[in-house]
Amino acid sequence: MPGTCVVGLQWGDEAKGKIVDLLGDGFDYVVRYNGGANAGHTVVVHGKTFKLSLLPTGVIRPNVRSVIGNGVVVYPPRFIEEVGQLRAAGIDLSESLKLSDHAHVIFPYHMEEERLAESGSEGKIGTTGRGIGPCYQDKVGRRFGIRVGELLRPDHLRERLRFVVPFKNRLMKAFANGHADALVPFEPEAIADQYLGFAETLRPHVTDTSRLLHDAFKAGKRVIFEAAQGSLLDVDHGTYPYVTSSSSLPSGIWGGSGVPAKNIQRIIGVVKAYTSRVGKGPFPTELDDGPTGIGERIRKIGREYGTVTGRPRRVGWFDSVAVRYTAALAGADEITVMLLDVLSGLPELKLCTAYDIDGERTTHFPSDAFDLERCRPVYETIPGWSEDLTAARKLTDLPATARRYIDRVGELVGLPVSVVSVGPDRAQTILV
Ligand code: IMP
Repeated sequence: MPGTCVVGLQWGDEAKGKIVDLLGDGFDYVVRYNGGANAGHTVVVHGKTFKLSLLPTGVIRPNVRSVIGNGVVVYPPRFIEEVGQLRAAGIDLSESLKLSDHAHVIFPYHMEEERLAESGSEGKIGTTGRGIGPCYQDKVGRRFGIRVGELLRPDHLRERLRFVVPFKNRLMKAFANGHADALVPFEPEAIADQYLGFAETLRPHVTDTSRLLHDAFKAGKRVIFEAAQGSLLDVDHGTYPYVTSSSSLPSGIWGGSGVPAKNIQRIIGVVKAYTSRVGKGPFPTELDDGPTGIGERIRKIGREYGTVTGRPRRVGWFDSVAVRYTAALAGADEITVMLLDVLSGLPELKLCTAYDIDGERTTHFPSDAFDLERCRPVYETIPGWSEDLTAARKLTDLPATARRYIDRVGELVGLPVSVVSVGPDRAQTILV
């Protein structure tokens, strides 16, 4: 039974969760393979809204088993909080949620390390402050990384923390650069006591999730992989260094869950009808046109504020150069266009079809952020529409101009548009 991946083709927040939700009862397992609690998503259960950042969005579906794969970095208090929130709403995950024993653990010193690095005057990325980058650094560095399975071995965990924490305290001092007096050193025993407490709550969920997934595929189960962040934030192929620290493209599935690529047959690329980005980094089609400009209007109507950090998202026109690039890397079979309703009321809309860089025109995306910084967008302007789209349920309910916009997005990206979303509700969806 082939697997499906739902992946964002921009800089994150493309409303991937709604697509997972629309796949409905069509799957048995939902898997996260990258990132951590930096991936904010809003889930509505029985009219109650939850802001999840670590558990997959598919976790709320009845009869679905959820997996947090080895490629995810886990902050145990967040895991416990999100599971508890859902339990309070009547969703019991004690049997259905599994956590890889190979996933790396985020400790308080990771967050402090990130805070100090991001508060310097140079080298800022604009991260979410969740300790994601420092934890992945420790994972690939190997000397200091601690995995979920190690939390379950008390003596071993204490020994590891006695080795790691003094080094981290020295590192913080160096980072604090003259302000070290304000730092409170971390205590290995205190962290060990706290994390051994978390471990008892985590224990029933912890398992070898790669084996679990291999067995699931063998048993013909339907598996869906939820990519976190967006493809332009992928650590290898995104706008480095303004990226996250994991492989958000479907290429991350093999490493981040242990499921070989040959098991993934359908890749659904999710895009917004425009573009958004949080944090620093180049963004050629950004609408930086002031408090009365189109950018602010889209931000307000689209509620473009980060779920994790509350930061206003940067917004801009749809960039087909960028999406063609990520669609190719992702191996997307189709795209779904989200938040089309947000563009209502604009007399004309722009679609970026190419870039000018140093006087030359290109339709290729320079994945090097420093080259992208110099790119100027080349736009095609097409007429907008004034109608409210939120009640549209089929393509013919849309004004001709909105249909033309969607057609043009599909043409420019070179992929069929399979879904158009015109509002947050499940019903506000057009299946093309
Ligand atoms: P980090 O993942 O916290 O290290 O942040 C690195 C960059 O990725 C920053 O620009 C963040 O704003 C961005 N980022 C991380 N997670 C998300 C997400 O889920 N949506 C959008 N941007 C994200």
